[in-house]
This record gives sequence, structure tokens and C-alpha cells, in this order.
Amino acid sequence: MSTHPITLLPGDGIGPEITAVARQLLDAVSARHGFSLSYDEQPIGAAAIDACGVPLPESTLEACRGADAVLLAAIGDPRCDVLPRELRPETGLLALRSGLGLFANLRPVKIIPTLIDASTLRPEVIEGVDLLVVRELTGGVYFGTPKGRVEADGHVRAFNTMAYRDDEIDRIARVGFALAQQRGGRLCSVDKANVLDVSQLWRDRVEAIHAEFPAVELSHMYVDNAAMQLVRAPRQFDVLLTSNLFGDILSDEAAMLTGSIGMLPSASLGEGGPGLFEPVHGSAPDIAGQDKANPMAMVLSAAMLLRVGLKQEAAAAALEAAVDRVLAAGFRTGDLMADGCTLLGCRAMGERLLEALED
Ligand code: IPM
Ligand code: MG
Repeated sequence: MSTHPITLLPGDGIGPEITAVARQLLDAVSARHGFSLSYDEQPIGAAAIDACGVPLPESTLEACRGADAVLLAAIGDPRCDVLPRELRPETGLLALRSGLGLFANLRPVKIIPTLIDASTLRPEVIEGVDLLVVRELTGGVYFGTPKGRVEADGHVRAFNTMAYRDDEIDRIARVGFALAQQRGGRLCSVDKANVLDVSQLWRDRVEAIHAEFPAVELSHMYVDNAAMQLVRAPRQFDVLLTSNLFGDILSDEAAMLTGSIGMLPSASLGEGGPGLFEPVHGSAPDIAGQDKANPMAMVLSAAMLLRVGLKQEAAAAALEAAVDRVLAAGFRTGDLMADGCTLLGCRAMGERLLEALED
């Protein structure tokens, strides 16, 4: 029986609670599908600042590099908002993405029919939505230099640089086109080429890479229009390809089509090496430690880890089916609670999911 080493990064806030649920389910599903997982739990974010004084200890990065896949819950703690940038949890996450070379972030958004009424948008607008945000993750304004804050002439000035090199755009474009080819065959590249030079290069390179994928239908959209179209007519999208900052914003917006950000998984992939799988939601410090968190995005991220990271398709599908069954039976965490449903805490939801897996 093969054993896959997995690095678990529970992180902050609700992270440890949802990690415990995901781990139980991973154990159960791997046992049923004839493989086993070994876990190495490591600190990141505020938890790592408390334990080691930095948001991404070298030992955590090394453990991730040696794993077959990494499962991260969430980072972020309001106590850290006053710390210098290099000591913020977010800086640890960016260093992890960059340290593992995870340039491609995939955020699928698919309407779950049983949850269609949880959305703030009308059912006829979101029915059938099935899109994928492909976000560039290790470049753009998140990482560009120069950046900083200077004082001059009695004023303070702060700045960042939004920059992409042609090969950074080419490789994320190839990921986007390849995924579009496997899905609905349509790629919409989002930029701000009417204003930004960096976006014009983005558009030029995406056009050039299109020649390698003639079967994919390519369109371009300015980011402001894309933000509007996502709530106006979201079914028009198959794959949305975009840069780091635009992808950050559009993926939160797209998440709300489903009614709760508590349902969305993501995968971050590089060229070889382990992938990083994490829910799109954050650490929710307001409900941390109260057994109120929705563990489903974490469980669906574990499913993505099984499918994409370990090529265990049947086990991944079994986890996803367990989530569907529990929702269909009317069980909900607080974020999704509706009339006639049964409210559960995080742990109890984990138990229902385990039962659904056994069925
Ligand atoms: C995300 C988050 C992160 C980002 C933060 C926590 C650094 O918002 O993964 O979308 O901006 O990338
Ligand atoms: Mg974000």
C-alpha cells in the first residue's frame, strides 16, 4: 500500500477546527480506497509567529517541499495588523507560494443546486454556473519591486509595482488554455489593457499563446467590466484567466455567486513539486474556537488534493459526494442556514460527512 506524505498547515483562526475535520475524512476515504496518508503538521501565519517568531519558518517550508501535497486551512489574525509587513501572516503565505513556485491558482466556482437559494443573486441568474478562475499567483503587484514607503517634502508616499515578464504570462496562459480545452473550450482573459502597460503585454502574450491552442475560443475583457459581468450574467464564463491582484478580487466576487465563501476550494500548482490546496475563505477570527465554522471548503480542498495532487480520482469523488449528500439531507452550518434545515457546528458537520462517506 502506498503512503503519501502530506504537510498539514492548520494556521490561524478556524484553521485548526476545519483541519481536524478534513484529516478525519482523509483517513476514512484513503482507507476505503487502498492508500494511506502520513501527516506532518507545521505552523504558518500567526500560529508560527507565536511559536517561532516568523510567519513562515524555514522548517515549515522544508516540510512542504518534501511532501506529496500540502493542505492549508487559513492564515490571518487581527492581532498581527499592527506588526511590520515582514511579520504579518499574509507575508508567510506569499513566501510559501513563492517558495514552492506555485504560479497557478485554480479556483473553481460551481453552483450546488441544493444551495441555490443561499446566494444573494436570483436563482435564474446563477443556475448552471460552472466557471474556473485561473489566477497568476507569484507575480504582479503582489511581488513587484520597487515597493515601499518614503517620506519627502513633508509627505509620506507609498508605492508598489505591477510588473510581469513575458515568460510569466506565457506559462499561466498555457495553464488557462489547457484547462479550457478540458472544460468548455472558452477562455476569457481579464486585464486593464486600456490603461496599463503591464496589461497590454498580458494581452499580447495571451494572444500569442492562443496559437498553441487553436481549439479554444479566446476573448478579452477589462477587469471593471468582468466584475460587472460576473454578477450580471455569470453563465457566460468558462475559464477566467487573470493576474494576481485582479484574480484575488474576482475570485472573492465569484465565490459569492454560490452564496457562501465557505464552500469553495482552491489549488495552487507549480512546475512539478507539491501543490498547495486550501479553501478560498480566510481564518474567520470572529468565530474561531466556537465550533461554528463550515468545514466544507476545507473538505473540498482535500478532495482537490486527492484528485490533482495524488491522482486519486475515486477517493476525491467520494469526498465530494459526501458533501452533496449531507447538504441534500438538509444539514447546514451557520453561514448557509435556511428555513427547514438543521443547524450543525463544525464537529457535528464533520461527523455527518463521515457517516455520508460510509453510506
Ligand atoms: C487569497 C487571500 C490572500 C491573497 C491573502 C490572505 C494574502 O486573499 O488567497 O485570496 O491576497 O492572495
Ligand atoms: Mg483573496
